[in-house]
Amino acid sequence: MDSPGAAKRAVFGALAASWDEAKSGEAIAAGVERGLALLGDVSGLDVVDLGCGPGRLEPFLLPRLGTGSVVAIDFAPEMIGRGASLCPDPRVTWLCRDVLDTGLEDSCAGLVLCFNAFPHFPDAAAVLGEARRWLRPGGRLLLWHDLGRERLAEVHRRAGRAVEGALLPPAAALAATARAGGLLVERAEEDESSYTFLARRPA
Ligand SMILES: C[S@@+](CC[C@H](N)C(=O)[O-])C[C@H]1O[C@@H](n2cnc3c(N)ncnc32)[C@H](O)[C@@H]1O
Repeated sequence: MDSPGAAKRAVFGALAASWDEAKSGEAIAAGVERGLALLGDVSGLDVVDLGCGPGRLEPFLLPRLGTGSVVAIDFAPEMIGRGASLCPDPRVTWLCRDVLDTGLEDSCAGLVLCFNAFPHFPDAAAVLGEARRWLRPGGRLLLWHDLGRERLAEVHRRAGRAVEGALLPPAAALAATARAGGLLVERAEEDESSYTFLARRPA
C-alpha cells in the first residue's frame, strides 16, 4: 500500500499543470508581498523555498534578490519540472526532494521561506529543526499563509483524503515548538485571513 506521503505527492503532482489557474499571480500578490515586506532588504541572500510548487514565489522574490540564490524544494517532480520550465533563472536550483531529506548542508542559507505549504509537512518540529540547521547564525525563517488557519483546514477537508489532515498549528503553539528547537521567534500572528511566523537563528 502507498504511504500517505506518496498519496499526497501524487495529488500535488496531478495539480502541477493547473496550479497557476487555481490562484493567479494577481490573487496571491498581496499575501506574498505582505510577507516579503517584513524582511526588508534581502539582496544577496541565499534562500531556501520550501514546498515551492511550480514556483509561485519566485517572480516576487527574484527581483529583490540581486546576486542572491534560491534552492526551491518540492517532493512532486511535476511541480519541480513546471517550476524549472516557467522560471529558468540561473539563480534558482530546482530540487525534487522531501523537505526532511534535502541533502542541504548546515548553514547554507540566509533565509528560509515557506509560503502556503507548511501544514503539508507531517512533522512540524523536524522541519523547523532542518530550517534552523540550514540557516546561518542570524538567518531568518518566514512561514506565511494568505488564508487563516480555520479556513485553510476547511479547504483541505474538502480536498480529499490525501490532504484532509494537513492542519496548521496555532501560531502560539508553533512559536513554542520553535523556541524549544532553538529559534528566536520574532512574530507569530494569525487572524481569519492570514498566518505569519517569523523566526531567527540566534547569531
Ligand atoms: C499548497 S502547495 C504550495 C505551493 C507553493 N508554495 C505555492 O504557494 O503555490 C504545497 C506544496 O508542498 C509540496 N510538499 C508537500 N509535502 C512535501 C514534502 N514532505 N516535501 C517537499 N515538498 C512537499 C507539495 O508537492 C506542494 O507543491
